[in-house]
Amino acid sequence: MRTYTTAASLRSALGEFRCQGQSIAFVPTMGNLHEGHLDLVRRARSLCDIVVVSIFVNPLQFGANEDLDAYPRTLAADKEKLFSEGVQVLYAPTVEEIYPEGMHKHTQVQVPDLSETLCGSSRPGHFNGVSTIVNKLFNMVQPDVAVFGEKDFQQLSIIRKMVSDLCMPIQIEGVATARDADGLAKSSRNGYLNSEQRRIAPTIHEVLTGCREAIACGFDNFLQLESHARMQLLQAGFEPDYFAIRDARTLRAVDESTEEIAILAAARLGSTRLIDNVRLAVNPASDWGMLATQ
Ligand code: PAF
Repeated sequence: MRTYTTAASLRSALGEFRCQGQSIAFVPTMGNLHEGHLDLVRRARSLCDIVVVSIFVNPLQFGANEDLDAYPRTLAADKEKLFSEGVQVLYAPTVEEIYPEGMHKHTQVQVPDLSETLCGSSRPGHFNGVSTIVNKLFNMVQPDVAVFGEKDFQQLSIIRKMVSDLCMPIQIEGVATARDADGLAKSSRNGYLNSEQRRIAPTIHEVLTGCREAIACGFDNFLQLESHARMQLLQAGFEPDYFAIRDARTLRAVDESTEEIAILAAARLGSTRLIDNVRLAVNPASDWGMLATQ
């Protein structure tokens, strides 16, 4: 595995692979790699000849009161994991390489609408930071395929929209969320949980799957389902940020055109903010017309 820290050296190495007719899959990460990231790498390997992984803790997507400094940086351990997975190229730039004039003077990419709801409401500017860095990394790597986790479902939707709107010739692949045996979605933030919080944390997935079962059984009062779920999270010891039943494509309210429903939640356990989601295909025979009146 070769590691590059500058865009120029990365470009020239990838140019050689491209000249040999090899396809390139890209997995952008912020490091502190766990099994969920390695699933993305495995999917990337199954799709292309060359796998490029980036590790960059992007300051532009952290709010002033968020955990940028505390974000775990584990480059040596991450390198070992990527090497064992057969990754050929690691790109690990510095903040100065990515934002030479400082991040506030940098051009930003904004995906309207999708970036403003759900996590976008409680983390203003977060998704502009994500779409800006992903756009920039895409321009540096110029991959054929890029792989993202479905755990960050809103992020995945925003990247798909950006790629479509800006006519980027990149196939975006989503990979199912990796979970611990008790259902907790794998996340770098799980490492912040104390043992009591870790015991409670899988409740978020239980509440999501309970809600999905209720919808699958025909319960269609979504407002009631959402408020019941928020209550369940509160009772378990979470401070819910949102619990929302949405159209999986637009992340707006479910309506007659919805083909798939996404149920998304964000909640804090102490100071750790966890997110998760589950999805459900809409049975075309359902009478979704009822929903418009709710
Ligand atoms: O999902 C992440 O780890 C980050 O948001 C990403 C896509 C690497 C951009 O910094």
